[in-house]
Amino acid sequence: MLRETDIILAIESSCDDTAAAVLKGRKVLSNCVANQEIHKAYGGVVPELASRAHQSKIIPVVQQALSQANIDKKELTAIAYTQGPGLLGSLLVGSAFAKSFSMSLKIPLIPINHMQGHLLVHFIEDERIKSPKFPFLGVTLSGGHTQLILVKNYFDMEILGTTLDDAIGEAFDKCGKRMGLTYPAGQSIDRIAKIGDPNKFSFPISKLKNYNVSYSGVKTSFINFLSNSEQKDSNFIRNNMADLCASLQFTLVQIILTKIELVAMDKKLNQIIIGGGVAANSEIRNQLQKKAKSKGWGLFLPPIEYTSDNAAMIGISAYYKLQKKYFGKLTDVSDARLKFTQ
Ligand code: KG4
Ligand code: ZN
Repeated sequence: MLRETDIILAIESSCDDTAAAVLKGRKVLSNCVANQEIHKAYGGVVPELASRAHQSKIIPVVQQALSQANIDKKELTAIAYTQGPGLLGSLLVGSAFAKSFSMSLKIPLIPINHMQGHLLVHFIEDERIKSPKFPFLGVTLSGGHTQLILVKNYFDMEILGTTLDDAIGEAFDKCGKRMGLTYPAGQSIDRIAKIGDPNKFSFPISKLKNYNVSYSGVKTSFINFLSNSEQKDSNFIRNNMADLCASLQFTLVQIILTKIELVAMDKKLNQIIIGGGVAANSEIRNQLQKKAKSKGWGLFLPPIEYTSDNAAMIGISAYYKLQKKYFGKLTDVSDARLKFTQ
């Protein structure tokens, strides 16, 4: 029985964002994220600094989420948290907080898989969101994952293809770092690419026969190309920034687009949904819209605030687990490589 009166507090702390959200039924009452600026100086996430920052931010973020939702902690039905995958030290902060809170309030605890959460945002009740029907093809595009997933039900998901090395977001970030852009670089590359020529430079696209993808080849070839070009012109990056961003972005998007098309055809899936930080990318959105039109796919693009890491995605996943009483235990362990759970 689906209950629209259940109130869930959700915590997400898998990487470098400390996030808390409150949901009533499938509606998001608040969705708060505290970004950790500290990693910018290092050009990537420093795990130890991330867990320390989670410790200092988690209580203020939860307080902010409860107060914005106008909900008292005594009104909560359950507390959800990210069990994995992610950075172990970061995951532990969220799980310890959620476990203590559930114990003191005597309410159920619901562990959630972060990657399933990225896909389930499409079931949030929101006028901008139209939910797909099962089964569909779910594509996770983030800093840590790039997966093509057959989604048969809320928690019945089968990974059909994945990256064999770097994730798409990682390729954006590492190539961006080489161009001198601040971490995470995906959003800046997207913005700068708008005035560049995507055909100015070309980079190799890995040709794997199955549904897997690879991003390390294009990353290495991009970085080598910059080093070689800088030997001839020390201002090469500055002089070609927009074209470099546009050409790189075009290549990174083509790699996943080709696989989406292949899987959709082979598995006869005509609904495509995307999730994860890179799902905010304008090129992938535009290219998918064009493809969807020509192929007759139903395409489901999440609102931007539900693409990068957030706790609303953990809350909506917990909503479906709560209905089935899939509760966790205090002895559940956080798992940096957590597999999909039922
Ligand atoms: O899902 P997410 O917030 O965290 C992980 O679970 O990894 O994804 C973060 C990734 C970063 O690599 C970031 O550069 C990328 O999402 N990203 C983008 C854009 N916005 C965020 N990449 C390309 N274009 C964007 N507009
Ligand atoms: Zn994520």
